[in-house]
Amino acid sequence: MRVLSGIQPTGRFHWGNYFGAIRQYIDLQHDNEAYYFIANLHGLTTVRDGAVLWQNTMEAALDLLALGLDPNRATLFVQSDIPEVCELTWLLMTGTPLGLLERCHAFKEKKAKGLPADAGLFTYPVLMAADILAYDSQLVPVGEDQVQHIEVCRDLAGSFNFSFGEVFVLPQAKVMENAARVPGTDGEKMSKSYNNTIEIFEEPKSVRKKVMRMVTDSRPVEEPKIPETDPLFQLYSLFVGDQQREAMAARYRAGGFGYGEVKKALAEAAEGYFAEPRARRLELAAHPERVREILGDGAQRARAQAQRTLRRAQEACGVKGRS
Ligand code: TYM
Repeated sequence: MRVLSGIQPTGRFHWGNYFGAIRQYIDLQHDNEAYYFIANLHGLTTVRDGAVLWQNTMEAALDLLALGLDPNRATLFVQSDIPEVCELTWLLMTGTPLGLLERCHAFKEKKAKGLPADAGLFTYPVLMAADILAYDSQLVPVGEDQVQHIEVCRDLAGSFNFSFGEVFVLPQAKVMENAARVPGTDGEKMSKSYNNTIEIFEEPKSVRKKVMRMVTDSRPVEEPKIPETDPLFQLYSLFVGDQQREAMAARYRAGGFGYGEVKKALAEAAEGYFAEPRARRLELAAHPERVREILGDGAQRARAQAQRTLRRAQEACGVKGRS
């Protein structure tokens, strides 16, 4: 299968990005043809400092490689290295109903909060659709918050195909069942914009501090507790196997233990889980030229595919003559 996904370099990646998306990228690279990219053009809708955006982009590549993305299996590239995607965005934009974009939650939420929204944010799902369609992607691993955008992509591809013939492959979203919406330190969806994130490569001391400060309900120690609805338990479950998860759930239900214990267990599990990638990241960071080379190779491969798709779309809609 052709797998594709993108991730914005708006800051350092957090546990939500990892369990919702990056872990799927790594799993899927083994038996599929996988394309993964750093969505810096999308990032530009929020990061308005060029030096920061560039720095974030390089850090993002390091993070992904350290976490196990293998450039010999998957194609890793930077979104803006494929200008064909922007051209494809325009072709799709001409058939995009405004109402469809008005219903998209990224835009709706910002507007509801009274924050200024620009045309980039409004048309963001069209660029995302072009990202997906340019590579004839069949499967798009994402967290739950991106599913709506993949529906939009299917709509746009379907209506383009209806007007101009079978040009685009319609993709499917792939969401992890137990990590569709990873909670943040306040129990809401973990997200940079909610300021409730724990970063994958954050210093263990700082992780511990954030975990220890997580708000819990006020049940006294002796009372039984409900694991499933507790964000601490949900996070802990992501880092451990079934047996450890069940053992912890049993302790919740039995009562006689405090949330402090699960906090400690969570911080320890997280530190152990990311220890190896952390060491790998240090090694990789010493060779920035290697990372640039990987991104250059990736861009070349991705671009060849995007060029073919763009040509097909251009010919179908009549902005280029048939070859
Ligand atoms: P972005 O950068 O916001 O998020 C990257 C990935 O992380 C997932 N994610 C989460 N999953 C579970 N729980 C959470 N708390 C959580 N927070 C983030 C997101 O669902 C996403 O999969 N528009 C995209 C980037 C993009 C893209 C694409 C994705 C651009 N073009 C084409 C797929 C295909 C975005 O902003 O993701």
